[in-house]
Amino acid sequence: MSQLLVTSYGDPRTSVALDRAVPAALGADDILVEMEAAPLNTSDLLLVQGDYGLRPALPSPLGGEGVGRVIDAGGDAGRQLVGRRVVVLPSYEQGTWADHVAVSRRNVVPIREDGDPLQLAMLPINPATAYLLLTRFAELAPGDWVGLNAANSAVGLCVIALARRWGLKTLNVVRREAAAQTVRDAGGDRVIVAGDDLPAQIADALDGAQLGLALDATAGPVVADLAAALRFRGTIVSYAAVTDAPPAVRAHDVIFNEVTHTGFWLLNWLRQAPRTEIEQTYHTLNDLVAGGELAVPVDAVYRLDDYRDAIEHAMAPGRDGKVLFTFT
Ligand SMILES: NC(=O)c1ccc[n+]([C@@H]2O[C@H](COP(=O)([O-])OP(=O)(O)OC[C@H]3O[C@@H](n4cnc5c(N)ncnc54)[C@H](OP(=O)(O)O)[C@@H]3O)[C@@H](O)[C@H]2O)c1
Repeated sequence: MSQLLVTSYGDPRTSVALDRAVPAALGADDILVEMEAAPLNTSDLLLVQGDYGLRPALPSPLGGEGVGRVIDAGGDAGRQLVGRRVVVLPSYEQGTWADHVAVSRRNVVPIREDGDPLQLAMLPINPATAYLLLTRFAELAPGDWVGLNAANSAVGLCVIALARRWGLKTLNVVRREAAAQTVRDAGGDRVIVAGDDLPAQIADALDGAQLGLALDATAGPVVADLAAALRFRGTIVSYAAVTDAPPAVRAHDVIFNEVTHTGFWLLNWLRQAPRTEIEQTYHTLNDLVAGGELAVPVDAVYRLDDYRDAIEHAMAPGRDGKVLFTFT
């Protein structure tokens, strides 16, 4: 069995090592998954840098999500899953950057047999995040506006696809023209390349409308401008902070428009939601991914042995899609 481990907290280019080990015996609740594909997400890189919401003891297996097939089980309950295709959920109790993963059966969800393995490998994190961001923080009706930054990100493109499906309109902020074209092609209703006067750009794009919900992945000053476009008692949800700047909201909007600024982390939902809700959510999204209605561009795939190139590629600015490991 080959797997990637984080060996020290620091630069992902130097803090990750390939380990070839004999798989440990499976516990009663464990299953063995032969992996098909697993993406390299920003969250994986943040974990290596020691900047994520958890910091496992080292060395620790890497890789939050992926897809594969169950080939063995440690107990009777898990044996019912042998032969099934499953997605591995981002509990970070196991690592998916491995050709085989021993995982508790509560950390997988069985999925349909059909569908592109690359897209299915990306099902657990970004489509689920988009779905939960759109459904948990605001009562939205068809015709309502959702504003988002980093709109060309995988999460952003999933938000746009779901919003279109549900009759919502999107106001999309990106930082470069090529990304704007990606978002237009994906069906974003209004697309802004953030400039010197973002409030005026937003007002112009909304043409008198207000946002029912705003979704923030960048943090920094753009948060204030999205929050200022919210309707009375609207909510802005921060789910990432790629600029590392504080996600500022103006006191004026908090006080006079009673705007709420809150956060979201998928792992909190996975830890707290009832199992039935988790399975239903993934089955709904599985249908959309398998049917091609939710899809994220892929920039490159790598074998595990080429992990240094894969990590370098995943960290490169201006990628045109996701980077994944494939195993079969
Ligand atoms: N809270 C949660 O539970 C949760 C769940 C899923 C994802 N996330 C986080 O959400 C973020 C997006 O994830 P993803 O997988 O969708 O990412 P992705 O597809 O890799 O896209 C990254 C996005 O960030 C933008 N970006 C990067 N650096 C930037 C900067 N300095 N200023 C402005 N924009 C910048 C990129 O713009 P360019 O294309 O122009 O470079 C791109 O739009 C990541 O940070 C991820 O960790 C959080």
